[in-house]
Amino acid sequence: MIAIEITRPGDPDVLVAKDRPRPAPGPNEVLIEVAAAGVNRPDLMQRQGKYPPPPGASEIPGLEVAGTIVAVGSRTKASTDANAAAAPPRWRAGDQVCALVAGGGYAEYCVAPAPQCLSVPRGLDLVAAAGIPETFFTVWTNVFERGRLVRGETLLVHGGASGIGTTAIQLGRAFGARVFATAGGPDKCAACERLGAERAIDYRAEDFVEVVTALTGGRGVDVVLDMVGADYAPRNLDVLATDGRLIQIAFLHGPTATINLTPLLRRRLTITGSTLRPRSVAEKAAIARALGAQVWPLLESGAVRPIVHATFPLARAADAHRLMEAGTHIGKIVLVARPSALGSKV
Ligand SMILES: NC(=O)c1ccc[n+]([C@@H]2O[C@H](COP(=O)([O-])OP(=O)(O)OC[C@H]3O[C@@H](n4cnc5c(N)ncnc54)[C@H](OP(=O)(O)O)[C@@H]3O)[C@@H](O)[C@H]2O)c1
Repeated sequence: MIAIEITRPGDPDVLVAKDRPRPAPGPNEVLIEVAAAGVNRPDLMQRQGKYPPPPGASEIPGLEVAGTIVAVGSRTKASTDANAAAAPPRWRAGDQVCALVAGGGYAEYCVAPAPQCLSVPRGLDLVAAAGIPETFFTVWTNVFERGRLVRGETLLVHGGASGIGTTAIQLGRAFGARVFATAGGPDKCAACERLGAERAIDYRAEDFVEVVTALTGGRGVDVVLDMVGADYAPRNLDVLATDGRLIQIAFLHGPTATINLTPLLRRRLTITGSTLRPRSVAEKAAIARALGAQVWPLLESGAVRPIVHATFPLARAADAHRLMEAGTHIGKIVLVARPSALGSKV
């Protein structure tokens, strides 16, 4: 099969298409003939040598795929006990799925843990489906599980035009929250508002603390989803309401910050966060089950959708990374391994 290798840490040119042996599924795994694979910012960090794959994961980049199951590994008792009890019905060759993987997505074939696969939502093609797993798993577990966002609350999404942000805005709205977002520039802000943000704040021109404080009548928001960190940290605390939750999923401005701890006591704030990739199959399976029950109906009704900004042939992964580094995209960038995946809806 063709797979994209990171030949050495470096710029996008280090991504090279190579012939590799097709992987085989182990116990409780499936082999997927990849139609399309999503590109995520953590892939760029992996390419630069700053985000090594967790132990046991493929060193080929790629955290999400969609395609057709072509082989199914054996089912063990351990899986039945640990995570398969509530796993999806046994997958069979021919099933069309999208899957969260810990690596190996930039390839014509990819092995995935069976419980991390979900059926391709009805009405979506395999390219759109490939843009679902990483952001929907991440937003679900952070905003709704750790952040405990509920109907009637308010959510501030930083990086609203990112793959993560476009998902968080839509899910926040779909679950009855009032959503605000930040983004760089008027086009990105307009996109955030089309997706359901009540107000998108162009951080280059406006101060998000001032705008959100005014919009909430001085109360602040219940949940902040942040990927910026550093200088945003004290301002995120400033914008949280009493009992508010700050959810940190990345720190594009850096991991260190100086904050005043007083508001944690006065307003009973919570600071938390998580990273998806190293979590166990059992934990990811639990997120997959919640998504299947609560979010798949929204995807199938069209109430929420993956926003695909651009596609590239698999062999042009380097160009996909260049586009993501340019930062002009809104939503997802997807690699297409099989051109027939474009436009053929399930
Ligand atoms: N914790 C987890 O489990 C997890 C999982 C997946 C992703 N993530 C993180 O979530 C973030 C979004 O991922 P993604 O795949 O959705 O990426 P993406 O689509 O490339 O979005 C990144 C966004 O960050 C903004 N940005 C880019 N460079 C920046 C910089 N130097 N300073 C401030 N903002 C910058 C851009 O928005 P503007 O143009 O509006 O500034 C862009 O929309 C990434 O940091 C990624 O590492 C975390």
